[in-house]
Amino acid sequence: MASANRIDPWSSEQSTDYGRLVEQFGLSDVDPSTLPNPGMLHRRGIVFAHRDLDVVVGCMERSDPFGVLTGLMPSGRMHLGHSMVIEQVRWFQEQGADITVAVADLEALATRGTDLVKGRETAIREYVHNYAALGLDPEKTSVYFQSSRPEVQRLAFTLGKRTNLSEFEAIYGFNGETNLAHVQAPLVQVGDIIHPQLDEFGGLRPIVVPVGVDQDPHLRLTRDIAQKTNWFNVKTRKSGGLTVALSVQDSNSHNLGVLEGGKIDIGVREKVISRIEDSVRDLGFSDVISNPKHGTIEIPGAVNSDIHDIRVKALSFERELGGFGLIPPCSTYHRFAVGMTGDKMSSSKPETTIFMDDNIEDMSKKVKRALSGGQPTVEEHRRIGGDVSKDVAYQYLQYFFEENDKALEEIKDDYESGRMLAGEIKQVCIEKASEWLEDLREKRGQWEGRLDEFLASDAII
Ligand code: TRP
Repeated sequence: MASANRIDPWSSEQSTDYGRLVEQFGLSDVDPSTLPNPGMLHRRGIVFAHRDLDVVVGCMERSDPFGVLTGLMPSGRMHLGHSMVIEQVRWFQEQGADITVAVADLEALATRGTDLVKGRETAIREYVHNYAALGLDPEKTSVYFQSSRPEVQRLAFTLGKRTNLSEFEAIYGFNGETNLAHVQAPLVQVGDIIHPQLDEFGGLRPIVVPVGVDQDPHLRLTRDIAQKTNWFNVKTRKSGGLTVALSVQDSNSHNLGVLEGGKIDIGVREKVISRIEDSVRDLGFSDVISNPKHGTIEIPGAVNSDIHDIRVKALSFERELGGFGLIPPCSTYHRFAVGMTGDKMSSSKPETTIFMDDNIEDMSKKVKRALSGGQPTVEEHRRIGGDVSKDVAYQYLQYFFEENDKALEEIKDDYESGRMLAGEIKQVCIEKASEWLEDLREKRGQWEGRLDEFLASDAII
C-alpha cells in the first residue's frame, strides 16, 4: 500500500521527510509570529505546517466562533505522542475555540476488532481522563462516540456520494484486495470532521483539525468532498480580484435556475445572483459585475484574504436554499517525537515511549536507557559536545517537559558545548518528567468521578 507519493494513515512506518510532505501535498508553513500567544509547540517549529490556519487566526482576532475537532482511537494506552494533539487543542481552547472529540469506536471496531463496550471504557478511562488532566475544559468540550451519533454516520453515507474508489486508490493506495473496513473508516472520519458545522452541532464556522501528518490523507479527502458540495465557488480572477461562480449540480439545478434540458430560468437565476451581489456589497465592495446568465459575480477589488468572508456569505445563502454550506476543514500538522529507542513511538512497545500513568521508576529507567546524543567517552564529550538532534532526553524536554524557552536554550548550550554530560541531561529530563507526571496524576485525581461532564448528551448511557 505504501508508495513514494502517498501517506498511509494505517502504517506503522512513519515518513519524517517533512519538507517533501509540505511540498508534495501543498501544505503551508507555520509562522509563529503570525499567531496570537503562540504555544511552545509553535515557537519550537514542532507544529510546522497547516492548511487554512489563517482562517482560524482571523476568527481569533475578531472573536468569531470557531471549533476544534479531534479524534481518538480507543485502543491501547495514552502516551506522550498522543498528548501533542491535546496540547494544541488546549491552545485553541485558550484562543476561544469550542472542542469536539470523536471517539473513533467504529473505526477501532472495523480496523482493529475492538468491541464497542471495551472501546467506550478505554476512551473514558485512558483518554478522556488524561485530556481533562491536560487542561481541556468540560464547559467547552464535548466527547461523542461515532457509534452513537447518527448524524455522523448519515454524513458518511451522503458525502460518500461525492467520492469514488479511484479517488481512494489515488489517496490511500487501495486496490481490489483492500478490506472494506478501510473504505468505511475514512468516510466516517469525513463525517466526524464535517459534522460540527451542522446547525445542531454549532453551525457554520471554521473547524480546525490538529493532527500528525499521517492523518493528512483524511483531511485532503474531507476538503475535497466539502468543496464538491459547495453551490458557489470563490475563485481568483485572472485579471485580478475574485469571482463567485455557481456550481450547478443535479441536487441544486432547480434552486440555481437551470431548467430541464439545460435552459436557464432567468427569473430564478437573477434572484440568486442579486442575493450574492447584495451580500458582497454588504462586505464593502462597490465594484461588482454580475452575469446572471453565466452565473458569475466578479469582484475586481477583492483580494485572497477576502475569500473566507465572501465564502461564508455564499455558504449561509446556500444553507437557506437547502444546501450543506460547508467550509473545508482547516488543519495543523506536528512533527513526531522520536521513540525513546530511536524507533517509532508505539503503545505496543512500552520501551519506546512514556505512558501518561507511568510511575517515576519506570519512566526513569526508560530515560536512562534512551538513545543518547552524547560522545562515547567523557573526554570526547567535553571536547566535541552532545548532539541534540539525536538525544532523546533533550528532545523530550523540547517537545514535552521544559516549557521555558530560555531554560531549554541554556540546556542546549551546556550540552552542545560539552559542559553538560549525557548522564546529566538525562537527569534533567527525569526531574522535569517527574514533575510533569506527578502534576498529571494529581489532576487526574481531581477529575476522578467527574468525567461525565465531558460527554455529549448522546454519549451518556
Ligand atoms: N483515524 C484517527 C486515528 O487513527 C482517529 C480519528 C477518527 C480522527 N476521526 C478523527 C482523528 C477525526 C482526527 C479527526 O487516530
